[in-house]
Amino acid sequence: MQTPWIPFIPPSASTLSGKVDALYFYLVGVTVFFTLLIWGVLSYFVIKYRRRNTYEIPRPVAGSHKLETIWSVIPFIIAMTMFAWGAQVFFEQWRPPANAVEIYVVGKQWMWKIQHTTGQREINELHVPVGRKIKLIMTTEDVIHDFFIPAFRIKADVVPGRYTTLWFEATKAGRYHLFCAEYCGMNHSGMIGSVVALEPTEFDDWLSGNSSQQSPAVAGQQIYSTLGCVSCHGAAGEGGRGPALEGIFGKQVSLNNGQSIIADEAYIRESIVNPQAKLVNGFGPIMPTFQGQVSEEQLLQILAFIKSLQSEVPQAAGRRASPAAVPTSPAQVSAAGSPANR
Ligand code: CUA
Repeated sequence: MQTPWIPFIPPSASTLSGKVDALYFYLVGVTVFFTLLIWGVLSYFVIKYRRRNTYEIPRPVAGSHKLETIWSVIPFIIAMTMFAWGAQVFFEQWRPPANAVEIYVVGKQWMWKIQHTTGQREINELHVPVGRKIKLIMTTEDVIHDFFIPAFRIKADVVPGRYTTLWFEATKAGRYHLFCAEYCGMNHSGMIGSVVALEPTEFDDWLSGNSSQQSPAVAGQQIYSTLGCVSCHGAAGEGGRGPALEGIFGKQVSLNNGQSIIADEAYIRESIVNPQAKLVNGFGPIMPTFQGQVSEEQLLQILAFIKSLQSEVPQAAGRRASPAAVPTSPAQVSAAGSPANR
């Protein structure tokens, strides 16, 4: 629920928020405990060992190994509990689960543009279902922004030319604040919105109620043919001049410098805007850059299309569609690098 005032602690509405709060209160607790302890002992000693007589000389102190060991080891153990606990929460937060539903987010001075895989678009509003894992794939058209949902305890910079991800699972239906948390120009303070967490059935209704919009994968396919990508990266690579794209997403790709790389969102984006950066083994530097010809939203749509290629084209079907020894899998793509297959 949104309140007109700023609450001391935002509502707790995701699977992560309780864990972040527990760690936060542990840190506050340890800090308060030692502040009071030091303050208390200090006050006690100041009074107990005050100078009672003008010419009093204190007894010399020779030091104590026992005391020094204790006050080194105990703080070390406390610091390590913070490290281990913090690392555990960190790893959970920064490793999105594989089965999460993806939603695309593009930041822009000064709004958040959101697109669901089913095609629904939203501006400064994000509808999500309760109890399902959601992964946000985020970028920006201009400057650095920062996507922040206090109620879910998640926050990440959104950086030009890169994809950052966040994931969450909402636990409570409601309307929550969405902020830009990185100063991004004149109307930064107005770059706000709402996250609407709905019960799964209500969410499905909401999704189907807006279903006239084109899905990002379909939009991506249209851009793909408009830009002529298909002439080199044909449906099953029949162009042969570029690597086939079926099933490439998430797979390992061998590069012509002998290294290999996982074809993730960042790699595919880079291959579109800066194709010479990482050439697939066996393919020449013939692809022109598409920098400036496709917007960040279109890049995300092409990405959605390439991702969709893996489920829609099973390997056998892909092979049948390709007439000759055209690479249809990353393994074949690397095999194509050998002179015999060229
Ligand atoms: Cu966008 Cu601040």
